[in-house]
Amino acid sequence: MPKGFISSLEEIASLRQEFEKSGKKLVLTNGAFDLLHVGHVRYLSEAAALGDALVVAINGDDSVRELKGPGRPINSAEERAEMLCALHFVDHVVVFEDRRASCVIEAIHPHIYTKGGDYTPDSLIDEERALLDRLGIEIRILSLVPGKSTSATLSDMAEAADRPKRVAILGSGTGSNARSILQAAADGKLGGEVALVMSDVSNAGILDIAAEFGVPAIAIDPGTTKGGHLTDAALKEILDRLQAASIDLVALAGFTRIVREPLLSAFAGKMLNLHPSLLPKYPGLHACIKAIDSGDAESGCTIHLVDAGVDTGEILRQERVPIQPDDTPAALQARIQTKEHVAYPKVISERLKSI
Ligand code: GAR
Repeated sequence: MPKGFISSLEEIASLRQEFEKSGKKLVLTNGAFDLLHVGHVRYLSEAAALGDALVVAINGDDSVRELKGPGRPINSAEERAEMLCALHFVDHVVVFEDRRASCVIEAIHPHIYTKGGDYTPDSLIDEERALLDRLGIEIRILSLVPGKSTSATLSDMAEAADRPKRVAILGSGTGSNARSILQAAADGKLGGEVALVMSDVSNAGILDIAAEFGVPAIAIDPGTTKGGHLTDAALKEILDRLQAASIDLVALAGFTRIVREPLLSAFAGKMLNLHPSLLPKYPGLHACIKAIDSGDAESGCTIHLVDAGVDTGEILRQERVPIQPDDTPAALQARIQTKEHVAYPKVISERLKSI
């Protein structure tokens, strides 16, 4: 059990006696505290500041179900207690099974009892109000943070879960893969929408294709660093724009820059790359030239998750094509791309279902 957790009302009564002896003021509040949010945090810290120690009494799971409905609680009493005990201004947490708080109020007999601003002293349950008056407990109603409640949080979450998933494409080149992804989205086959296309090349074809589909197309200044890496400022701008557009998944399609932090962590498991070889063969540049020069009989494309290495992330799908005896890198690339155009939208669609 977490530090501060009190498992019985007897234990809480003896805590009260200790406080009486040391002349300290005990504050009590109660509620379900099902989905901790900033409104709870501010309310509880304000309550704690009224005395020397704060006890939070939480409804057991059955009483939350009775009070709030069959889908609640979201978190079990044990989990709720653990989260509350982790707040530095909460001294003790106790679980009580009644719908009403009278039993805890009676057992703990606090100096101050607080409720949130959705109550007034007169709207407290009669039984609780009579008990508080009889025991001479001060009632303090504390203001709530507007818009921050468990039900508002739940409805925001339901709305977020319902909205179409949003994809961003990053590319440096002609954008034939971006076109196939945009077309899949337009045909309702992507399982989401393309909400943003970005390029590190201001006149890249991929930006024109995005505009053709009516999708915001943004050129990012990559800055100048040794080795052509994106500058920290460029990475920050990309991340800021992805977050501002509420992007769920990033698809790199012919993006010739190396992606690094903070982008990697922000989109861990949610950033895909397309590479024209059967990885782990030929990562990095000139994959088609390397496959032909090595005398390979086949090549293909790999769609993989992006990690800190160059083309080293978890492989999600590969498609194979033969290499012809008289192949040129351009001919091989074109053959690979016909596979890419079909495979990439499918992998994006599968990935969107899992995030
Ligand atoms: C794609 O063929 C992709 O495999 C390759 O760039 C091409 C982009 O074409 N990616 C890499 O080489 C990544 N190392 P596109 O702009 O027409 O989609």
